[in-house]
Amino acid sequence: MHDQHHDRIRLPALRERITTATEAAALIQDGMTIGMSGFTKSGDAKEVPLAMAERARQSPFRITLMTGASLGNDVDKLLTEAGVLARRLPFQADPVLRAAINRGEVMYVDQHLSETVEMLRTRQLGPIDVAIIEAIAITETGAIIPSTSIGNSASFAILADKVIVEINLNQSLELEGLHDIFIPKHRPQREPMPLMTPHDRVGTTAIHIPPEKIAAIVITERNDSSSTILPPDADTDAIAAHLVNFFNEEVRLGRLTNSLLPLQAGIGTIANAVMTGFIDSPFEHLTMYSEVLQDSTFDLFDAGKLDFASGSSITLSADKGKQVFGELARYKERLVLRPQEVSNHPEIIRRLGIIAINTALEADIYGNVNSTHTLGTHVMNGIGGSGDFARNAYLAVFATKSLAKEGKISSIVPMVSHVDHNEHDVDILVTEVGLADLRGLAPRERATVIIDNCVAEPYRHMLREYVAEAAKRGGHTPHVLEKALSWHTRYRDTGTMLLPRVTLAATI
Ligand code: COA
Repeated sequence: MHDQHHDRIRLPALRERITTATEAAALIQDGMTIGMSGFTKSGDAKEVPLAMAERARQSPFRITLMTGASLGNDVDKLLTEAGVLARRLPFQADPVLRAAINRGEVMYVDQHLSETVEMLRTRQLGPIDVAIIEAIAITETGAIIPSTSIGNSASFAILADKVIVEINLNQSLELEGLHDIFIPKHRPQREPMPLMTPHDRVGTTAIHIPPEKIAAIVITERNDSSSTILPPDADTDAIAAHLVNFFNEEVRLGRLTNSLLPLQAGIGTIANAVMTGFIDSPFEHLTMYSEVLQDSTFDLFDAGKLDFASGSSITLSADKGKQVFGELARYKERLVLRPQEVSNHPEIIRRLGIIAINTALEADIYGNVNSTHTLGTHVMNGIGGSGDFARNAYLAVFATKSLAKEGKISSIVPMVSHVDHNEHDVDILVTEVGLADLRGLAPRERATVIIDNCVAEPYRHMLREYVAEAAKRGGHTPHVLEKALSWHTRYRDTGTMLLPRVTLAATI
């Protein structure tokens, strides 16, 4: 076995460290903090975590697990079911883990994705005992070449005492050269990140660590999980059309050029569908400075609309993945993958003037946005990078369908039941009904614009009544406090936010 994989493990001495996942997993002990590769189901470690789950079923142990973002291959599910996860950060999107978090069994720290390694580097978090990193290869000098994501992998490997590398033979060697790994200096020696355009390369193509830190190498042929985003529908088409009209107007007013500014698009079905909508737009030579590159990025390349995309991971549906990774050479010159602290860095987002398009679960009449908690208490996924981008963007756009759960939930409510993005960080709110431009508006003005443009009947009428009652109480941001969350409690108690005897079809 040690004589194989010369193209993948190019430092001969390291071939001695090839071992089984079970043996590698033995390095992980109760109470440790583990930093693992993986960002929105791509480039995640796949063998060692499964061996950890297997061992924990016989002999229980618990760890703190940090990753880039969410994982594929049911890793979070299996680790949760085996009771391995005591703490989890900075992001997850797994239904089984989500349920365990909401039962209070796993302590979940939902962080801005740019911040985790800053906190590790300054010892506000950590230390990292073991890093487990998926790679396509290890270079002649022992540097680790990541696969389909970088996420936090570089800093995990640099900061950890020991590193386990999973060499994935199914990840194309064509990925070599795609990465750009820049590690900021410790303060007070910190310098500006020298990144002036989305396509600037400012770092190295591999993670440089002393090779003696590589304690074990495990070979895998397991694929990344595919994304499960749904195709665009009438509502997402309408959201995209409203945004295209809005950007057209910004171009007409001379505020933007026809290539807009670098685009960031959030995760999930809605953000992907909105980006796909740019295919039928008049805009050209677009660029992306984003976090996750989804199917829409490659659809925009193929449509000749997009010149360049910078991200931290590539997460594709099964069909798109087959096509893109089958002909990666065709896209490679127009792509770069960066550590998430660089892809999401406030300094760069502000400098480049990013147009950030993220998804809300709900928004309120004043423009506060909840992206993470259903009905105020139960976490869905996490804030991810949406806060990194929204706070620092040139334009922060939040999109949502105006209705959820067959209309029993209005996504626009009097007061959000949890705040991720406050009114100061939200410029544009868009639903399939229309678009609210909140720039320069005071709270009372925002309420009118949001209700008139983004809300469908009968909720529009209900919100107008709420605002009228609130206005009588006065205030800069008027509320009827005892009713502010009554839509949520009504849904909890009756299964719908609609008032008794009011149906969705009713036009009042
Ligand atoms: N209340 C309760 N549930 C709601 C809701 C609301 N106001 N609005 C939507 N939902 C439910 C939907 O019904 C759906 O439920 P289901 O999975 O049971 O079908 C689920 O939330 C997802 O909604 P969907 O409309 O399919 O949206 P999406 O796939 O585009 O995901 C988020 C939306 C908000 C969950 C997702 O974008 C997210 O996790 N965002 C936070 C992180 C982020 O923005 N990262 C990007 C940084 S780069």
